Amino acid sequence: MAQRFGFSVAATDGKARKGVISTSRGEIRTPAFMPVGTAATVKAMLPESVRATGADILLGNTYHLMLRPTAERIARLGGLHRFMNWERPILTDSGGFQVMSLASLRKLTEEGVRFSSHIDGSKHMLSPERSMEIQKLLGSDIVMCFDECPALPATDAEVAKSMALSMRWAQRSRDAFGDRPGHALFGIMQGGVTRDLREESARALTGIGFDGYAVGGLAVGEGQEAMFGVLDYAPGFLPEDKPRYLMGVGKPDDIVGAVQRGIDMMDCVLPSRSGRTGQAWTRRGQVNIKNARHMDDPRPLDEDCTCPACRNYSRAYLHHVFKAQEMISGMLLTWHNLHYYQELMQGLRDAIGAGGLPAFVAAFHAQRAEGDI
Ligand code: GUN
Ligand code: ZN
Repeated sequence: MAQRFGFSVAATDGKARKGVISTSRGEIRTPAFMPVGTAATVKAMLPESVRATGADILLGNTYHLMLRPTAERIARLGGLHRFMNWERPILTDSGGFQVMSLASLRKLTEEGVRFSSHIDGSKHMLSPERSMEIQKLLGSDIVMCFDECPALPATDAEVAKSMALSMRWAQRSRDAFGDRPGHALFGIMQGGVTRDLREESARALTGIGFDGYAVGGLAVGEGQEAMFGVLDYAPGFLPEDKPRYLMGVGKPDDIVGAVQRGIDMMDCVLPSRSGRTGQAWTRRGQVNIKNARHMDDPRPLDEDCTCPACRNYSRAYLHHVFKAQEMISGMLLTWHNLHYYQELMQGLRDAIGAGGLPAFVAAFHAQRAEGDI
């Protein structure tokens, strides 16, 4: 009998929660940051290295995997976990968001989205039913509803219409998902930056009933102030006894602000992607390793960081391998960034557990204000 999906809150500090999500593939400590493994790999990292940074769960993408190598092929090869050599939990996004940002010749109807692949132009269809089928073929532990995230700028009427469609798709996703012990289905709240629409969306989703609830449609260009504005009320519309997932967020200060507002899970390409473009994230903020000021610097990126990039290499070396376009550059900086993100999550969990989140957040901002030295 597969372990049932569950969530328990062990401690709170203000609106912030520390807890554990249990799945048949292991536990996820929350607040959790999920590294993104879009194409069945966290780019530049071995899965055991991703685990060594402290990740309990990865994110995969329906859109990319359905196009290449296809969900059917992954299923024949034993599912996504075995295929990519990650036996711990995997959450898969449903494809709607990626179709709208990556595919060409999109046609959106009540049924779903027809589109052409960004890889070879081939024609495909995604609908709530097809997205559920693909995520099942992949063997995803946490399946996301098929939704639509409206592109900005959008009028209130457009956001309302899109949210209503996403709620009808949420019901179809729920119906198509069926009863799968050990696997979870999350609803996705939409509604832009309009409080009434967010509340209406939450009511629709909680009426259907899900194992967890995502806040979608944020970090799409509205800015941190507007995003925090929504997060000041949106998590409060969702059930306390279910995990809350903020999709596609974010920078370290976005993560801290989201956790303070009651978010339990997040994902973002930022630490991995920026590692490949020479950007490092440290306790003192962002460091651009491309900068010539690092050329003769024998110090590590962060003297207090215990990741391999900081334990074994100088800034001068990291600068050199980036300039020389050596592959180890992306490997080391991605490792460092993921390590930093997971340390931040552990710091947040510990602080919530000890009732010391305000002091932790104050120290977090004070260190960043010092800047890189
Ligand atoms: N990733 C970031 N934002 C969203 C969203 O609104 N919906 C989905 N499905 N994925 C996302
Ligand atoms: Zn480091």
